Amino acid sequence: MNLTEWKQKCAAVEAEYKKQIAAAADADVLEAARVASLGRKGALTELLKNLKDFSIEEKKEAGPLGNELKKNLEAAFESKEMTLVAAKLNADLEKTNIDLTLPGAPVAAGHYHPLTIALNRMTAVLSKLGFVWADGPQIEEEKYNFDYLNIPAHHPARDMQDTFFIAGKPGMVLRTHTSNVQVRYMEKNKPPLRIMSPGRVFRKDDIDASHSPVFNQIEGLYVDKNVSLADLKSDLTAFMKGLFGAKAEVRFRPSYFPFVEPGVEVDVKCVFCDGKSPCAFCKGTGWKEMLGAGIVHPQVLRNVGIDPEVYSGYAFGMGVERLAMMLLNIKDIRAFYENDLRILRQF
Ligand code: PHE
Repeated sequence: MNLTEWKQKCAAVEAEYKKQIAAAADADVLEAARVASLGRKGALTELLKNLKDFSIEEKKEAGPLGNELKKNLEAAFESKEMTLVAAKLNADLEKTNIDLTLPGAPVAAGHYHPLTIALNRMTAVLSKLGFVWADGPQIEEEKYNFDYLNIPAHHPARDMQDTFFIAGKPGMVLRTHTSNVQVRYMEKNKPPLRIMSPGRVFRKDDIDASHSPVFNQIEGLYVDKNVSLADLKSDLTAFMKGLFGAKAEVRFRPSYFPFVEPGVEVDVKCVFCDGKSPCAFCKGTGWKEMLGAGIVHPQVLRNVGIDPEVYSGYAFGMGVERLAMMLLNIKDIRAFYENDLRILRQF
């Protein structure tokens, strides 16, 4: 074959396969044409093999021509392939009846548990009042839960009826209050100090609308020079007003806890009624007890190596669930623990 014939054949191959490419209606037909032209034994591949029989001068002309043609055909196959893929996708979409303009399926978003919501609001107010976070263990040594807090061995709180002791671990209890953090913190840190310590506590209580064997408290402790009951009263009043708004009312009653002297109990005006019975939450008294508090007993300070002649302090321990119930308008403490989504989703 001479160069002229070779060029004619090339032109014929190009024309033939461009025609086939244009006519190909699906991917299989197109692929067959590609193999027939550019495959190992394809028409163009065979023609390119003839190049070796030409003279150097002829090769200079034929070589670039052949390459050009090959690239041309390859590009034509590729572009047709993309056209076919797009067409097939469109055809499939037509058939499947999907409306791409519809909004997507909603993703279920989680949120905080109501108890956490309430707890966060309480610690937010306390931190504005200058309290910093301190943590303590829930499984505690008796000495931190009781002895260092001036709670003697014969105190009823230390009875098997009231406290969970741990089988096989003498001297260990599930803490009955967050006051263990007071002594643990004062053991390591010297005054002035001002801490809040939220956490779980455990008592052998029955379950009813306002009691649970597991509940939460927030301990507060402020020790410095000249801390008095006036500081306690103004800080707790500020806390309740910060939580419930300016019209919140607080009442202090004398009470007794071995680790404070004097001791008080603090009630908050019931938000559910005006003291009119019957109100299940405050039992018609108009007030709900929210916390125990008092001036830290000198013996407790001595137990942790702080001189009560120089320093004094106040402490309080408040019930998180009770405050949360008033804050979120929940009348039964069990709502916090039963995980009924119909209730939890309201917050
Ligand atoms: N720990 C006491 C209780 O759980 C509350 C309290 C804390 C009282 C701090 C006085 C001071 O009942």
